[in-house]
Amino acid sequence: MTKKIVVLPGDGIGPEIVAEAVKILEKFREEGLNINLEYGLIGGAAYDETGTPLPAETLEMSKQADAILLGAVGGYKWESLDISVRPEKGLLGIRSELNLFANLRPAILYPQLADASTLKPEVVAGLDLMIVRELTGGIYFGQPRGIRTLDNGEKQGFNTLVYRESEINRIGKVAFDIAAKRQGRVCSVDKANVLESTELWRETMTTLSKSYPDIELSHMYVDNAAMQLVRAPKQFDVMVTTNMFGDILSDCASMLTGSIGMLPSASLDENSKGMYEPIHGSAPDIAGQNIANPLATILSAAMMLRYTLDEASMADRIEKAVSKVLDDGLRTADIYSAGMTKVSTSEMGDAVLAAL
Ligand code: IPM
Ligand code: MG
Repeated sequence: MTKKIVVLPGDGIGPEIVAEAVKILEKFREEGLNINLEYGLIGGAAYDETGTPLPAETLEMSKQADAILLGAVGGYKWESLDISVRPEKGLLGIRSELNLFANLRPAILYPQLADASTLKPEVVAGLDLMIVRELTGGIYFGQPRGIRTLDNGEKQGFNTLVYRESEINRIGKVAFDIAAKRQGRVCSVDKANVLESTELWRETMTTLSKSYPDIELSHMYVDNAAMQLVRAPKQFDVMVTTNMFGDILSDCASMLTGSIGMLPSASLDENSKGMYEPIHGSAPDIAGQNIANPLATILSAAMMLRYTLDEASMADRIEKAVSKVLDDGLRTADIYSAGMTKVSTSEMGDAVLAAL
């Protein structure tokens, strides 16, 4: 059966980096991978065309799809729009509508990039960490929310941090299952000393862990976790956390690997249908210059092949090809260091293609 892939390039550098990942998917298609690519609008690009960052047509085609490849959304141009139609709403909307609650954000240091990290090589060498971020709940979606005017005329912004046991359990299970295939350790990150919703998070994770006797569960407050990530990141195997903490900690973790331009992600529903996207944003400051790093998007396509399309060997080939081009000294600007060869977005994509 032909697998339907929806491609949503989005804004900023999105179209450039997605084009490089598509080159690779097209190559696999020529080799016999049974996929069909369909394009849609999301984010600011969608707003400009249709007046909404998540047009019904995009949502409909994404619901029909087996997998989605997304670039990035957002940019200066749309910053002053009402929050309800800002590009980010498109991304949050599709995550929520498709029930993509499990966001996997691996942070792996390619040994070739040990020098590109701002941390000492011995601190990051061999780093292989998986952040499992809850993606469709928590403060990102909790009600009530808004900006209201108080009786004294002063404005007040408010959001709500809520988690139900079922939401905690289902993301916990994803983390434990992943840990079972890795080193068997899960660190659950919360702020249980201050926030009741994450006190429940901690209790629920502890109860759940009883069904996973082979997994070692630890707990950490988020402030400490942020510190430990830069102090001794290799202590972690799998980290599981809430939507907002995961957003913040995954950006932090990305820098351990040299550049946020290296980190892919998968957002999965209960049936492993997924959306795949780099964890970085739309980088409007460098958009259209052909200098962005396409590797996070290319590695996201590899995750798609592994998790949704069940083509682990193709995923391996992409990951090895990325390693090969790094061995060959090719670097986009964000991971460039002296003595290496600086390449553009499309040159990097072509090099990975050739290395396949
Ligand atoms: C991410 C991004 C998004 C998020 C934004 C663009 C809405 O930062 O995927 O990490 O906060 O989830
Ligand atoms: Mg983020």
